[in-house]
Amino acid sequence: MKFFIDTANLAQIKEAHDLGILDGVTTNPSLMAKEGTKGHQATLDHYKAICEIVDGDISAEVLATDFDTILEEGKVLAALHPNIVVKVPMIKDGLKAIKWFTDNGIKTNCTLVFSAGQAILAAKAGATYVSPFLGRVDDISWDGVQLIEQIADIYSVQRFTTQILAASIRSPLHIVKCAEAGAHVCTCPLDPILALLNHPLTDKGLATFVADAAKMRDVIEDAE
Ligand code: E4P
Repeated sequence: MKFFIDTANLAQIKEAHDLGILDGVTTNPSLMAKEGTKGHQATLDHYKAICEIVDGDISAEVLATDFDTILEEGKVLAALHPNIVVKVPMIKDGLKAIKWFTDNGIKTNCTLVFSAGQAILAAKAGATYVSPFLGRVDDISWDGVQLIEQIADIYSVQRFTTQILAASIRSPLHIVKCAEAGAHVCTCPLDPILALLNHPLTDKGLATFVADAAKMRDVIEDAE
């Protein structure tokens, strides 16, 4: 399973990249707005800055909701860098646009997916990635992980090649469950990724090793 970071914050992207386990980045208009990115050129420059940090797929979302403008925006985004993936919402014009981008060699990420039916449509349109938002499904008391499992089963039976990009991740357990369910990619904020590092027995074991290492050093120094 690939790891993408779900943020437009350059410092956090750099921190995740420096861990050596980062395969890509996803952004959305809310994450871009959070970074204070305003205006067309500043937005494009921000995407370019992300591409300079991470050598992997970078999702950049269109703002339009009608077919012609989605195409217009998507072409500009795709021309920024070969790693840009045009992120398009799961709406009728978005689906048509995904098909057009696919037919014209532009990678896409179909976003705002909340059902297996929507995931089937994204795959039929040839999306590179489909983004089921499991955290938001959990938020309304449904089972987000079950949705990932269902899409993974359908894609496997139907031999769809669209990659399942599990999104809206809230916890380290979500990441583990997505890996178990067969998601191809997991995109999450930095905190759940870092939380995967933690285990009390690791802390306890390390404290003992550090203490014993100090004793070993004392023995070596006494012998010298
Ligand atoms: C990623 O592609 C999505 O935009 C993102 O994961 C949504 O996450 P949220 O539900 O935490 O806003």
